[in-house]
Amino acid sequence: MTSPNIAVIGAGNMGASLIGGLIQDGHPKDKLWVADTSIEKLTPLRDRFGIHVTTDNKTAAKQADIVILALKPPMIAPVARELSSVIRERKPLLISIAAGISTTHIKRMLGDASPIIRAMPNTPALIGCGATALFANATVAKETRNLAESTLRAVGSIVWLPDESLMDIVTALSGSGPAYFFLIMDALQKGAESLGLPKETARLLTLQTALGAARMAIESSTPLDELRRQVTSPGGTTEKAISVLEENNIGALLKNALQAAMLRSKELATILEEEN
Ligand SMILES: NC(=O)c1ccc[n+]([C@@H]2O[C@H](COP(=O)([O-])OP(=O)(O)OC[C@H]3O[C@@H](n4cnc5c(N)ncnc54)[C@H](OP(=O)(O)O)[C@@H]3O)[C@@H](O)[C@H]2O)c1
Repeated sequence: MTSPNIAVIGAGNMGASLIGGLIQDGHPKDKLWVADTSIEKLTPLRDRFGIHVTTDNKTAAKQADIVILALKPPMIAPVARELSSVIRERKPLLISIAAGISTTHIKRMLGDASPIIRAMPNTPALIGCGATALFANATVAKETRNLAESTLRAVGSIVWLPDESLMDIVTALSGSGPAYFFLIMDALQKGAESLGLPKETARLLTLQTALGAARMAIESSTPLDELRRQVTSPGGTTEKAISVLEENNIGALLKNALQAAMLRSKELATILEEEN
């Protein structure tokens, strides 16, 4: 199959990450369009990747087999209004990555002409290491799902969700997740520094340990709690550290954090529904 023409609307963090990933994956640059209100965001993308850029969303959408809406949630409604005639005429696949905007909500704004897929990627997409959850309702054809899947697989791993309501917990887990790992890695690095390790040494050892642990877990079918037990010798140093973490209820703390993010995701979705 020939590569589809893709228009990314919004050249911010996620839009630029998706473009970087698609280019790295070999998507032809003449089949990539990006639109943004800000020329300052577009120029570096054009210079770096040689893709088409425009400050007119319609110009980008007119070329596209796939339109990716990479806008902040409040901008989805005005841009949907702006693009509705082009979308109705061209019927591209629409992929929205906006948090809290449901497929039903987008359908209400744009009608039934185009298939709609909702995606929740995360920022490691920038380096092809993203984690994206996808949802399509039952009316979206298998070939269309495959198209969305191959587009987003260009920037990392993907999973399909059986139910759109699961997007709130996905937003809490992998959408917001990179920040939790940065926080934990920062705390480990600073802790080691305060115990006397030089800053750069603490940074390198922290990051490589996180990467190594994640790769070991990804490459193994062993459950995470068993992997942890395997590196915890009775009476050893790891056991001491784990007991401090468990006495302080690390499991409950992280679950509470996820729950707070999930509830906020639901709240934001309700606010957006009411505003539009
Ligand atoms: N960042 C994440 O980790 C993450 C993870 C998963 C999902 N998401 C979702 O991804 C979406 C984008 O997030 P982001 O972090 O990439 O936001 P962002 O950096 O603010 O990017 C949005 C871009 O769209 C531009 N824009 C604003 N109005 C526009 C319009 N009318 N037409 C065209 N472009 C317009 C913005 O320009 P200005 O800055 O000049 O307004 C900005 O460059 C959000 O809905 C978010 O929920 C983000």
